[in-house]
Amino acid sequence: MVSILRKSRTEFSPAGPASLPAGPVDPGYMMRVEDLGIRYDLRLTRKTTIRGTFRNLTKISRDDRSFWALRNVSFEVAHGESLAIIGPNGAGKSTLLQVMAGILTPSEGRIEVVGHISTLLTLGAGFDVELSGRDNILLAGAFMGIDAREMRERLPGIIEFADIGQFIDAQIRTYSSGMRARLGFSIATAVDPDVLIIDEVLGTGDAVFRVKSQRRVMELAKAAKGIVMVTHDLNWAEEFCNRAMLLEKGRIIAEGSPAEVVALHRERSDRARLERDAEIARQVAAATA
Ligand SMILES: Nc1ncnc2c1ncn2[C@@H]1O[C@H](COP(=O)(O)OP(=O)(O)OP(=O)(O)O)[C@@H](O)[C@H]1O
Ligand SMILES: [Mg+2]
Repeated sequence: MVSILRKSRTEFSPAGPASLPAGPVDPGYMMRVEDLGIRYDLRLTRKTTIRGTFRNLTKISRDDRSFWALRNVSFEVAHGESLAIIGPNGAGKSTLLQVMAGILTPSEGRIEVVGHISTLLTLGAGFDVELSGRDNILLAGAFMGIDAREMRERLPGIIEFADIGQFIDAQIRTYSSGMRARLGFSIATAVDPDVLIIDEVLGTGDAVFRVKSQRRVMELAKAAKGIVMVTHDLNWAEEFCNRAMLLEKGRIIAEGSPAEVVALHRERSDRARLERDAEIARQVAAATA
């Protein structure tokens, strides 16, 4: 779990993050993304195998060792809006959330966040596994800049929602992945965020926890909070989000009502699958001819 809380209006741009005063004027949105681009420099990307390194070096010409994971991305998240970001693997969805969370700095364009932001990107990633669940809740609070007294007041609610019994006082290393997910979700959503960012984690818990977490996300949305979630669960996007955006190869393909955007995504994925199958059939035919 990575959580970040911003108390005022914050802006990220290639020049680096700058805090803006919250200001008396309500801009009418929780988040605004303007012509955002993220370029990964592949030379700086850690390679895990010698063979992979060799393959990458031979594949990429000397002048072309960077690539745009996101380009020309612009949108706003309004008050009370729940935006689903969908798209195939590698489309740039997680990259986009990392920029929103302030983990990545835009290579071009800018992003502006109004209010507190809490993010659920990789569940359990921020936990200190040597400490108990209870201590990790307090630690997360400190990390998010919430004062210790306030966090102690929130503690019972967080523990009750996570519902992991006596394990709350055991070291995190003894938790199952579902238990880590429960605790991570419970912390990130208990801190009253204005904008909640979730990357594909709602499906993590068991059925009971799923229903509970869906309900909590809906409560947050109702309380005029903004939610941006990446999901491969298209039914969830249709049922619980009021807007959807389709990303492919780092570009926005469509944006609008979840039903329409989901239908378009299904159609394009089906077409891509058919084209892939036809290509494989062609290659097999050519190889056996
Ligand atoms: N650190 C990095 N260095 C270089 N390329 C990266 C890095 N992180 C991601 N990428 C590339 O950027 C593109 C977008 O990746 P991203 O993880 O944002 O996709 P995604 O839409 O979240 O996919 P998935 O549905 O599989 O989670 C991919 O081509 C990926 O290989
Ligand atoms: Mg991803």
